[in-house]
Amino acid sequence: MSSIAQNSYISVFADTRITGRAANAPSTLRWRRTYPGRADQARLVRQFVGFLLAGDPLAEEVVFAAAELSANAVRHTRSGRPGGSFTVEIRHWRDGAAIAVTDQGTAGPPRSRDADELSESGRGLRTIQTIARCLHWTGDENGRTVFAIFMQEPPAFVHAPSRPGRKGM
Ligand SMILES: Nc1ncnc2c1ncn2[C@@H]1O[C@H](COP(=O)(O)OP(=O)(O)OP(=O)(O)O)[C@@H](O)[C@H]1O
Ligand SMILES: [Mg+2]
Repeated sequence: MSSIAQNSYISVFADTRITGRAANAPSTLRWRRTYPGRADQARLVRQFVGFLLAGDPLAEEVVFAAAELSANAVRHTRSGRPGGSFTVEIRHWRDGAAIAVTDQGTAGPPRSRDADELSESGRGLRTIQTIARCLHWTGDENGRTVFAIFMQEPPAFVHAPSRPGRKGM
């Protein structure tokens, strides 16, 4: 088993090396919504995130991660108990997006399975790790936030200005 890295939610979002003009820039849009801790809510999370990111090339991947993290909150944490809830936050900027799901905690932390351990279940976090720029969590048994950051790839070909050559060459 390998744990996904534990990092500060705030410092990662504020890390300009990761997010560039991103997550804390004035141009970043943010939305947050709290859902009852029931399995049927993942469908509504998908709709919510899909609507907000409509037309963005990252939409499909972010929607997938949002639904997986929401399902995990309900299935693996106290959010899934009667009266429980979880909160989804989305940030969207010009060439990236971040999804964060805050739950009501449980004893053990999120654990991404190694590829050779994968079975019928246990694929959610591993899959997000393969499509997101990064996947982290913060918090403790009283409540955790699991979040993923997605960035568009830079163009494959970047025009480099030609270096000044010597006359006649
Ligand atoms: N929010 C969370 N809080 C605490 N533990 C978590 C949380 N999310 C996941 N986990 C733990 O991490 C493990 C791996 O999660 P992952 O989503 O990869 O697989 P899964 O939910 O067990 O199965 P699948 O997603 O394939 O249906 C879970 O089995 C659970 O033990
Ligand atoms: Mg899962």
